[in-house]
Amino acid sequence: MKAVVWHGKHDVRVDEVPDPKIVNSRDAILKITTTAICGSDLHLYDGVIMTMERGDVLGHEFMGEVVEVGKDSNLQKGDRVIVPFNIACGNCHYCKKQLFSVCDNSNPNAVLNEKIYGYPTAGLYGFSHLYGGYNGGQAEYVRVAYSDVNPLKIPEGMTDEQVLFLTDIFPTGFMAAENCNIQPGDTVAIWGAGPVGQFAIRSAYLLGAKDVISIDNIPDRLDMAREGGARTLNFDTVNVLQELKEMTGGRGPDSCIDAVGMEAHGTDLGNVYDYTKQALRMSADRPNVLRQMILACAKAGTLSVPGVYAGMIDKIPFGIAFGKGLTWKMGQTHVQKYLPRLLKHIQDGDIDPTFVITHRLSLKDAPQAYETFKHKRDNCIKVVMTP
Ligand SMILES: NC(=O)c1ccc[n+]([C@@H]2O[C@H](COP(=O)([O-])OP(=O)(O)OC[C@H]3O[C@@H](n4cnc5c(N)ncnc54)[C@H](O)[C@@H]3O)[C@@H](O)[C@H]2O)c1
Ligand SMILES: [Zn+2]
Ligand SMILES: [Zn+2]
Repeated sequence: MKAVVWHGKHDVRVDEVPDPKIVNSRDAILKITTTAICGSDLHLYDGVIMTMERGDVLGHEFMGEVVEVGKDSNLQKGDRVIVPFNIACGNCHYCKKQLFSVCDNSNPNAVLNEKIYGYPTAGLYGFSHLYGGYNGGQAEYVRVAYSDVNPLKIPEGMTDEQVLFLTDIFPTGFMAAENCNIQPGDTVAIWGAGPVGQFAIRSAYLLGAKDVISIDNIPDRLDMAREGGARTLNFDTVNVLQELKEMTGGRGPDSCIDAVGMEAHGTDLGNVYDYTKQALRMSADRPNVLRQMILACAKAGTLSVPGVYAGMIDKIPFGIAFGKGLTWKMGQTHVQKYLPRLLKHIQDGDIDPTFVITHRLSLKDAPQAYETFKHKRDNCIKVVMTP
């Protein structure tokens, strides 16, 4: 079959690879009908996530039709499903608490993960060997693990594009907003107006925020943020901290969401320092958004971090976070937990997730699509691909 294969930094290719096979009795094989590229894939593309290996198949936002099932799968051939990017066993201590992205059992590389984190976390599709080395779904077919627990069957009449983002970015934006513990009258500031930031804006309103402020430096992304009801700040043209203070009557936003993660841009001294350390592999991450959020947030506010971080970060003003009494919430999304609720929001017409799609391409165009999305060329916000 054809699949998008990681060959190294800034080198992905569409290769012929072996078809996936049922390995465990709870597996299913999916024929992919639609798949997407995520901002998280860009961290792999940029070579800043360790334990990728040449030959790994990328992709963790995918959906399709079931073509083969193991004997303990509860899916049937012909079922149309979306598959959460994080893999959960459904039975462990964490899965029972709906904390699916820290499942104890789904990471076949648990020993490596445990060595670094102290405890193993869930396997993820197409996201390095630290997270299990699962092949991803930017491909014609994919093996779905624990297929009796994870996939969501799609009600008849809904299109792929309406439901595809339930695999990741809609629940991710939603959990980021939920983690803010939004109270009536609250202002939420969101760094990053990429797909995750866009869904965080809409989710913050669904959860009752009064005001959302979106921060980025890409005009068409800020336009899309305004279409979602946010006020916007371009960090190239204004002093973000000063503006946020003024826009919130001198108090600061009640909560702040980092929808940027480990590859934040910027030109201030702190950011130049981060670029240098990351290039020399002395640091995994460029954390200048985290620094800004600590300074910007209202006292006793919440910092919510859906943006991915990979390792040690320094020059974080932790004493200020402590002094202001801030709460931190973060992590990979517990996608499965949010599916019934978010599917209903789509069915009820509260949100149409297709708003974020700017590029519809064929899987064979993936190398070019990664380049376009990485450099945000051609007003690219979200790419979906069909095999
Ligand atoms: N926690 C999870 O489960 C989860 C799931 C999906 C994505 N993510 C992560 O969320 C982040 C965003 O994903 P995306 O798909 O929206 O990616 P994206 O690359 O399309 O968007 C990131 C945006 O951040 C902006 N940005 C860069 N530096 C900034 C700064 N200093 N201030 C404000 N904005 C800045 C960029 O211009 C860009 O628009 C990534 O780190 C991704 O890995 C996490
Ligand atoms: Zn993702
Ligand atoms: Zn589990």
